[in-house]
Amino acid sequence: MLSAPLLEATDLCKRFPLRRSALDWALGRPAPALRAVDGVSLTVHRGETLGVVGESGCGKSTLARCLVRLHEPDTGAIRLDGQDALALTGAAWRAYNRRVQMVFQDPYGSLNPRLRIGDALTEALTVHRVVERAAVLGRVRALLDLVHLPQDAAGRYPHEFSGGQRQRVGIARALAVEPALIVADEPVSALDVSVQAQIVNLLLELQERLGLALLFITHDLRLLRHIAHRTAVMYLGRIVETGPTEALFATPRHPYTRALIEAVPQIVPGARHRGATVQGELPSAIRPPAGCPFHPRCPIAEPLCATVPPTLVPRRVEGSLTWPTACHLAGPPG
Ligand SMILES: Nc1ncnc2c1ncn2[C@@H]1O[C@H](COP(=O)(O)OP(=O)(O)O)[C@@H](O)[C@H]1O
Ligand code: SF4
Ligand SMILES: [Mg+2]
Repeated sequence: MLSAPLLEATDLCKRFPLRRSALDWALGRPAPALRAVDGVSLTVHRGETLGVVGESGCGKSTLARCLVRLHEPDTGAIRLDGQDALALTGAAWRAYNRRVQMVFQDPYGSLNPRLRIGDALTEALTVHRVVERAAVLGRVRALLDLVHLPQDAAGRYPHEFSGGQRQRVGIARALAVEPALIVADEPVSALDVSVQAQIVNLLLELQERLGLALLFITHDLRLLRHIAHRTAVMYLGRIVETGPTEALFATPRHPYTRALIEAVPQIVPGARHRGATVQGELPSAIRPPAGCPFHPRCPIAEPLCATVPPTLVPRRVEGSLTWPTACHLAGPPG
């Protein structure tokens, strides 16, 4: 895509400090830290969906929280329309918060149980002064329409709704402030399978109608393939491969991406699959493996992999340049 990105994150790192053990203390070692996000760079363009996929614990939610500034990243930069988001304070920070909204996996946890839905939406509209007071009621009605909830939903409490309806409320609340980007963190994985498609279709419909950009986090490759224009594959706090979704699924370059795809039956017609998850366990993010973080699980690892970390750069494959892949064996850097 040639246009300037809407959101650009560069080299984001987020570590969670852990308690110093007695041994650390005796040896004079600093307190260890868990590297939840370890140097992530990504872009999201207007109107597009970037899918972020990876095993549980690989740092997806922490990344999402950094992007909406629920976590302050330790290092790195976030730019929205070219403006440094991490330097914003006061009104400019609230404006960022309005333009980048999050939809959570469990909308119940993010909705105040004592607030009627109409009041929750009104609160979002007034905190951010989205519309004049006289227009609030009309806007609440329009939001309920937008997410296909009946008008009487405004007078009901969160517990009166089913999981799918609650997620519609969560989406309405995010939309209330007219965001340009929605960061959706596994927005359907807590829902019944029969309801998942409805919510996904709603998000796609809203994206089309409102020109929204979506950063869609999931561990479900089938879903990702259905909705994401581009895909970023995360492993142990890093992006290991990122490219156009269809091409990436057809010819994955990173062994981890290949393993993820092979673990899902029939995701690619004719592809062989093991019918299992990726072999081996996700290593600890407290002491990640040296070299390539995937090397202890990688079926094609070479000695070099245990010492030299591969960089996420475009690779030359059969004479042409492909998307960024952090693997020594994916082809020479372009
Ligand atoms: N607030 C926190 N404090 C300490 N560790 C955390 C916190 N949040 C997440 N983690 C750890 O960071 C890593 C990444 O977690 P998370 O971002 O939730 O991954 P994912 O969403 O991909 O499952 C995990 O090892 C998790 O235990
Ligand atoms: S760099 Fe080496 S260990 Fe890492 S994914 Fe590539 S081949 Fe496997
Ligand atoms: Mg998560």
